[in-house]
Amino acid sequence: MTKKPSNPATQQPMKARRLDGIELSLIRQINALATSASVNLGIGEPNVEPDEALREMARLAAGTGSWHYSANAGNLSLRKKVCEGTDFDPKSEACITAGTEEGLYAIFQAFVDEGDEVLVPDPGFVSYPTLARLCGAKPVPYNIEPPEWRVDAKAVLDKISRRTKLIVVNSPSNPLGSVIDERTLRAIAAAGPMVVSDEIYREIWYDSPPPSMLGMGRNVIVVNGMSKSHSITGLRLGWILAREELMKPIVTAHQYIATCASVFSQQLAEMILDAHAWNASWLERVRAQFQEQREAALFSIERDMGAKIPPPAGAFYAFAPVPFCESLPFAKALATDAAVLVIPGVAFGRAGEGFVRISFAAPIDAIGTGIERIGRWLRAAKR
Ligand SMILES: Cc1ncc(COP(=O)(O)O)c(C=O)c1O
Repeated sequence: MTKKPSNPATQQPMKARRLDGIELSLIRQINALATSASVNLGIGEPNVEPDEALREMARLAAGTGSWHYSANAGNLSLRKKVCEGTDFDPKSEACITAGTEEGLYAIFQAFVDEGDEVLVPDPGFVSYPTLARLCGAKPVPYNIEPPEWRVDAKAVLDKISRRTKLIVVNSPSNPLGSVIDERTLRAIAAAGPMVVSDEIYREIWYDSPPPSMLGMGRNVIVVNGMSKSHSITGLRLGWILAREELMKPIVTAHQYIATCASVFSQQLAEMILDAHAWNASWLERVRAQFQEQREAALFSIERDMGAKIPPPAGAFYAFAPVPFCESLPFAKALATDAAVLVIPGVAFGRAGEGFVRISFAAPIDAIGTGIERIGRWLRAAKR
């Protein structure tokens, strides 16, 4: 009897091996548990509404700009803007990307081979180890220690081996909110391997602007973007600055991922960077709003969770201890039983176990209600 051919529609697709063990991040998985009753302190995007000036710029960008492809590296006029105040050549040392995430993907695709090692912060942003694995490389975590979450240059340099291809640093940090000082950044830049500095939260700071790695060495690649600073996460606008010899393979990889970043978003970004006075006052307003929300979060974390944590110096996350709890079942139970979403620390690496990431990019009353619910749940669990 001849075997009936199986119906391709009912077959499990044969997933590529590079995706073995790779799933949607725990951030997305926890956010999928949201209901209409949930207080969402899990989200990684700013709760800043666009003002009329920003809306008008968006209307103009859509109404008067081009709808055609730009150069792969982006419109030269925008590259000139992102290079302003630096000695980077807009023609050969800047690339506009579809968000920082696409920029990171292009960098990994350009440089990381099977068998390479990539040093990543632990706790650190979920994408870094995954991007390394997708290239067949091994993510090698360097630990960042509580309670201050300061990066120790020695902890990074000790992990460098013959196989180290890239070192990833992220300041201000997601999920820690901590900032890396200039001396440490210089020591990492001078260590030898290529460094990717993810500076997406650089405009969101509280006491003083965080140092950038820009210009710290020909081996340094800086990624940045407007998702967090301008509350335009959905418009996918980022950029990479790197010396010409590093930028060439990055632009090649970027061409086959995105062709170019959205020209609408590029035109809007250019208008934003052109509007110097508006932009400065917008960023001040963003920082002032997050400062208030940070104070509210720190107050509630101390009152309701009994934890006095060092104030985050940048970004909009508090990494709060939940002793005696495994962070993943704890965060899932909080989502389903207490209707509050936070991200389990273990989503950010092994060193994140015993903590949860509380995003204070939320209205002050939601911050208060959400953390009060966490406190109540913790007290009930202890009894
Ligand atoms: C540290 C870090 N890098 C990169 C990204 C990606 O941002 P973008 O919207 O620019 O792709 C995020 C987003 O949460 C982030 O937290």
